[in-house]
Amino acid sequence: MATRLRLGFNIDHVATLRNARGGGVPDPLRAAELAVAAGADGITAHLREDRRHIHDEDMTRLKAKLRVPLNFEMAATEQMLDVALAVKPYAACLVPERRTERTTEGGLDVIGGHDHLKPFVAELGRAGIVVALFIEPQAEALEAARSIGALAIELHTGAWCNAVLDGEKTRATDEFARLRAAAALTTKLGIECHAGHGLDYQTARQISSLPEVVELNIGHFLIAEAIFVGIEAAIRKMRATMDAGRK
Ligand code: PXP
Repeated sequence: MATRLRLGFNIDHVATLRNARGGGVPDPLRAAELAVAAGADGITAHLREDRRHIHDEDMTRLKAKLRVPLNFEMAATEQMLDVALAVKPYAACLVPERRTERTTEGGLDVIGGHDHLKPFVAELGRAGIVVALFIEPQAEALEAARSIGALAIELHTGAWCNAVLDGEKTRATDEFARLRAAAALTTKLGIECHAGHGLDYQTARQISSLPEVVELNIGHFLIAEAIFVGIEAAIRKMRATMDAGRK
């Protein structure tokens, strides 16, 4: 079986709650530290153009204080590139961004956006940042990501998770088959395979069975669980769930 699966905890919605009142609580850094103590392998944060949750100072504080890899989710814009080059996170995941969306809906257009994305990947890479592209589980998208020069891709699991939640078994089976095929292709292409979006205990367990997947990024569900059981318990349970799915 492949290497241990890493858990990246996305803390965006701790900042969403903080921003609902202004001020400093709950503090995303405190959430990150608790999660790391409970077994998270990395912290993920998305600095959106509209700064609706994570703020620039959050990225700076996270980078300064965390002792685990920071994964900076960002749109491929000049402004975000400047912030990323100043913060110097361990990794960056390029995502599509639309102001009106509630969350990241769909993967990057890596085929149409090839020429736009390539210099961003190169410049981040030159700064020593490991770059992933957030893409749909499609062979053409994977091949384009490879030709853009990305070292990693993150498979968008949203469509599959929605099908599971909707109880649509055939659609869920088909979507999981797409994820499985895409994950298998990463080995052939020599790129690292991550996955995320909409994962909960059930779907995280199932996707952990794919040996090519080496990192899951999970936010909303874990923060929702943390309201009831606390961050540490939610992370520990997710960690155990992923380990069980991996076996
Ligand atoms: N991965 C990427 C690239 C994302 O954009 C998001 C959402 O910010 C996630 C993972 C986490 O998704 P969720 O909050 O649904 O777990």
